[in-house]
Amino acid sequence: KKLNLFATPEHASLYVAKQIAELIREQQKQSKPTVLGLATGNTPKRVYKELIRLHKEESLSFKNVISFNLDEYYPIYPEDEQSYTHFMRENLFDHIDIEPQNIYIPYTDCSLDGIAKYCKDYESKIAKYGGLDFQLLGIGRNGHIGFNEPGSSFDSVTRLVNLHELTREDAASDFGTIDNVPNHAISIGIQTITQAKKIVLLALGERKSEVMRKSLQGKITTQVPASILQTLPQVEYVLDHEAAALSQ
Ligand code: F6R
Repeated sequence: KKLNLFATPEHASLYVAKQIAELIREQQKQSKPTVLGLATGNTPKRVYKELIRLHKEESLSFKNVISFNLDEYYPIYPEDEQSYTHFMRENLFDHIDIEPQNIYIPYTDCSLDGIAKYCKDYESKIAKYGGLDFQLLGIGRNGHIGFNEPGSSFDSVTRLVNLHELTREDAASDFGTIDNVPNHAISIGIQTITQAKKIVLLALGERKSEVMRKSLQGKITTQVPASILQTLPQVEYVLDHEAAALSQ
């Protein structure tokens, strides 16, 4: 396993941002686009802040970047403050030079019937760009990656999912109360994630220490979706001291 430990969340985040920047620059030199898989939530915020700094101060350009977000609540509107579109604009996209047409975040206002087609198209778009070059992941306290909750099949692809109670609880503060948190989301699948050429799972803070122990050292089971990552050579775990506290 490739496990990289850092003393602070800050150090861990800067390390991840640097990796992303180097990949973009490397691909640019070869005139190739970089296809990024991006996450929302608290964990990647500092990474995005550093990418913005690199754009503003060290001329990192996102003109050749295509980005696919992992997931989005359903139903929700992109304009809603809790939407991941809103999150991505505020924390990254509004501050860099990525082309709007290269940004993909799952969203559909179609009825349940249309969602299956929408999800299939989302998968096809990723495939059309040759798959994800780099997938950034956070981890839920129940071991979810994207919104692939416990029980998700390892060969799942983009689809409508039910959110677990713990996931909704963790989102409650964003929505004011748990009753306002949607019961569903659209999430790319575990198979979609595991096909990325490089995967970095970033886990920060004491709240993630128990799930990181299970994900790194526990058995590989759909009950802990992140456990599948143990089997993949292209995975790197980036943890701060606190998130690693229960793993040796
Ligand atoms: C977000 C996502 C989720 C989060 C996870 C951790 O796009 O896919 O899997 O990465 O819920 O969230 P934070 O970072 O807020 O602890």
